[in-house]
Amino acid sequence: MPAVVGVGVQWGDEGKGKVVDILAEHADIVVRYQGGNNAGHTLVVGDEKTVLHQVPSGVLHDGKICVIGNGVVVDPAALLEEIDALRGRGYLEDESLLKISDRAHLIMPYHRAIDQARERLRGEGRIGTTGRGIGPTYEDKMARIGLRFADLLEEATFAEALRRVLEEKNAYLRTMLGEQALDYVRISDQYARLRERLAPHVIDAGVFLDRSLAAGRRVLFEGAQGTMLDVDHGTYPYVTSSNTTAAAACTGGGIAPNRISCVVGITKAYTTRVGSGPFPTELLDAVGEKLQRDGEEFGATTGRPRRCGWFDAVVARHAVRLNGLTGLAVTKLDVLTGMKTVRVCVAYELDGKRVEEVPASIAAFNAVRPVYEDFPGWEEPLSRARSLDDLPQTVRRYLTAIEELTGTPIFMVSVGARRQDTIILQNAFNA
Ligand code: GDP
Ligand code: IMO
Ligand code: MG
Repeated sequence: MPAVVGVGVQWGDEGKGKVVDILAEHADIVVRYQGGNNAGHTLVVGDEKTVLHQVPSGVLHDGKICVIGNGVVVDPAALLEEIDALRGRGYLEDESLLKISDRAHLIMPYHRAIDQARERLRGEGRIGTTGRGIGPTYEDKMARIGLRFADLLEEATFAEALRRVLEEKNAYLRTMLGEQALDYVRISDQYARLRERLAPHVIDAGVFLDRSLAAGRRVLFEGAQGTMLDVDHGTYPYVTSSNTTAAAACTGGGIAPNRISCVVGITKAYTTRVGSGPFPTELLDAVGEKLQRDGEEFGATTGRPRRCGWFDAVVARHAVRLNGLTGLAVTKLDVLTGMKTVRVCVAYELDGKRVEEVPASIAAFNAVRPVYEDFPGWEEPLSRARSLDDLPQTVRRYLTAIEELTGTPIFMVSVGARRQDTIILQNAFNA
């Protein structure tokens, strides 16, 4: 009953989509367990690029079951669009392979409106959210006024709950945010249509996964965002509104902790971040521009340019500890080609003192200075490498440094966006 979790080590966009797509070959079921369509997971198979926002990254393999767990917040209209686009391209022919938890919360139009209006009002102090309504939906879940798929399926329950909640949301939108009120009938009609289309997908996902694991099926849990965007352990308040770390696979998938056999931490060979907040190794110079250009660092969801910097081993160790990482998948190694020197942040310095852990205070995190260890760079293109032996000595030395600094073995190295541009060292399902 192996259950593998793939989780982002940094601030998201580490290449989780690519890595999960590869691991999915060995899985029967792939599960998203937190976040929503703030995620953008890119898969490149053949010449075809697919960006997934809510559908799990197992969907390009024939016959894999894809589950959207209870911990995910789902925008049903956006999900339907995603399903239709995939079907239009010949995927998900058997629609019953996509399952949605009856406990997953619905992103409603007022969540998006509130998210976007708040960001506008914050001006310079904005978080830089994706504007998809993620934060407000999780707020309502915790406030116990959220609407779930289970509610959507019960017409009368849904109508009554929507009427009650919308009244409160409209008052808030009008008086606090200076926005227009939203129309009940319009939302109600839209969600009635969505009910019809999505109802066949809705199941008790926790029970399904538990039974599947008991029957010996292999389950792969796909994290969204990254450890540094975790609402508890990230750069709060510049984070997303869910727990992004591996434990969320249990709460957000509806399975027990002792089911998990392996956790793979997915990390870029350097670092990127979209949106505001501290980023100690950020490069605001030509080197940062080179990473941005060669790595094509534009957000898969919002198209915003990603901020770029060196690999941060303090962040990586934070992720090792919080997620219990069994192994690492190091991505985008090819992007470092052409650097004279490759730097790794091994610790921070604050007020003349060495700091080895991520500070809770944003002011402190903004003020830390990275302590770097330098490694010789390389000129060789790497995207044809299929084994460690194909990599130059300088590159192997850099990978060994990452293993040593994190105390974690590398299971996979990615040297290009395509499925085949990958070096596999250890199968996570056998680890
Ligand atoms: P995710 O959110 O973690 O799934 O990552 P994104 O899809 O948002 O961003 C990763 C980007 O890097 C995508 O455009 C991928 O196609 C691309 N990518 C993934 N692995 C590699 C790699 O090893 N090399 C290069 N050059 N690109 C990669
Ligand atoms: P994947 O799964 C990178 C960032 C946003 C913003 C903060 C809060 O593709 O790695 P939110 O809309 O969640 O309230 O925004 O989190 N963010 C991401 N950054 N990758 C993501 O997902 C992200 N999802 C959210 O940019 O800074
Ligand atoms: Mg992404």
